[in-house]
Amino acid sequence: MKKPVSRVGALVALGLIVLGSNVWAMDNPPSAAMHLGEGEGRIVDPDLSVPAEDYRETWVFLGSFSVLADDPEEGAKEMHAVYAEREAVRTYLASGAFPDGAKIVKDVFETETEHLTTGTASYATHLAGRFVMVKDSQNRKADGSPLWGDGWGWAFYEGAEKQRTITTDYQSDCLGCHQPAQETDYLYTRGYPVLAR
Ligand code: HEC
Repeated sequence: MKKPVSRVGALVALGLIVLGSNVWAMDNPPSAAMHLGEGEGRIVDPDLSVPAEDYRETWVFLGSFSVLADDPEEGAKEMHAVYAEREAVRTYLASGAFPDGAKIVKDVFETETEHLTTGTASYATHLAGRFVMVKDSQNRKADGSPLWGDGWGWAFYEGAEKQRTITTDYQSDCLGCHQPAQETDYLYTRGYPVLAR
């Protein structure tokens, strides 16, 4: 009985090493510098940037959505992974709302799909970009910037970019798609088990 168990242990360890190096590679794709030309995208507000810290390791993973390819046989064409800070999640669980300043990050990954021993399985590969939302319940920043309003700051960052957003106006770039989730403060909370406790 012991042998297979330790073999699994070794495989898990190997998997973690491989996963670890992949995560590093996603954050630092070789093309990152070329991805955004000079002057493309704008630094609008440090509060709305992609977190400088390694949120995938230290924040709470809320959940994921996979978006199927046009031909579902090909599996998922995108995987989305969503994170928030632990304190913000605690406040949400206690009060039902995220506190002002709470930042929600959604990673958008390209994928590979393989026939694994579990079935047709898709997994995250290259980071295509990141969406960020920041809570601003009183719309304090809404007068000063077209990226703030409806209780949130809204921005998208291409590839590994963390500060320069290509979003120019949340009403045209984001709101229409988030309107169906208005009842849950414009968040698709149904996909985040940790918030449902
Ligand atoms: C094409 C429609 C569409 C557009 C445009 C869009 N979103 Fe979303 N967004 C969604 C959907 C649907 C989800 C949840 C399901 C998923 O990720 O596939 C989501 C999820 C998110 C999440 C994770 C939290 C949540 O709401 O569940 C963030 C953060 C986010 N979007 C930010 C933005 C920002 C910022 C913009 C504009 C720059 C934007 N989105 C534009 C459809 C959209």
